[in-house]
Amino acid sequence: MAEAGTLHDAFIDELRDAYDAEKQLLKALPKLAKAASSPELQQAFLTHRDETQGQISKLEEVFASLDEKVRGKHCDGIAGIIEEGKSVMEEDFDEAAMDACLIASGQRAEHYEMAAYGTLVAWARAMGHTDAADLLQQTLDEEKAADEKLTALAEGGINEEAARAAHPEDKATEEGESDEKDAASSRKTAARAATSMKKAAASASRR
Ligand SMILES: [Fe+2]
Repeated sequence: MAEAGTLHDAFIDELRDAYDAEKQLLKALPKLAKAASSPELQQAFLTHRDETQGQISKLEEVFASLDEKVRGKHCDGIAGIIEEGKSVMEEDFDEAAMDACLIASGQRAEHYEMAAYGTLVAWARAMGHTDAADLLQQTLDEEKAADEKLTALAEGGINEEAARAAHPEDKATEEGESDEKDAASSRKTAARAATSMKKAAASASRR
């Protein structure tokens, strides 16, 4: 029977997975940038593309620090996330809605990476691979910053703009309502507007 693998073997395996994930993202990020309408969002994706290039180099340094050959192993997780992002890009959304969806796709990828690097840092520290741990921590910090940047863009106007296009007449409309309810609520809003216009006209004529 083959000898049981150790945490070190699992660590190397996860590093190969992360290396492949970064390479997949390096190709995906320019596509997200191209699909984005907001110039800030485009820039955020392109900046993270450049960071990703640096993260690939950092992983190469990690392999070297462990006397391991640089090797990737197909990362199914990130491939799935990228695949979902591609289907979103094929949808016919208005510009702000598309930007909101691209942010959602990007954040799924960032969170996947944050989970992976969080584990890698913890394992590297537990096994005393200090140089590797420091390099991996730098990448983890960059992923977190990239995620926060996307949140800031979403909450700094993109979601609101997309929501306005989704519910132009009634700001108070709850999320998740059916189209029928939306139609009914816009009829009510129109009726309310007509009533208040009549009242305004009546009070104006009394003056
Ligand atoms: Fe990354």
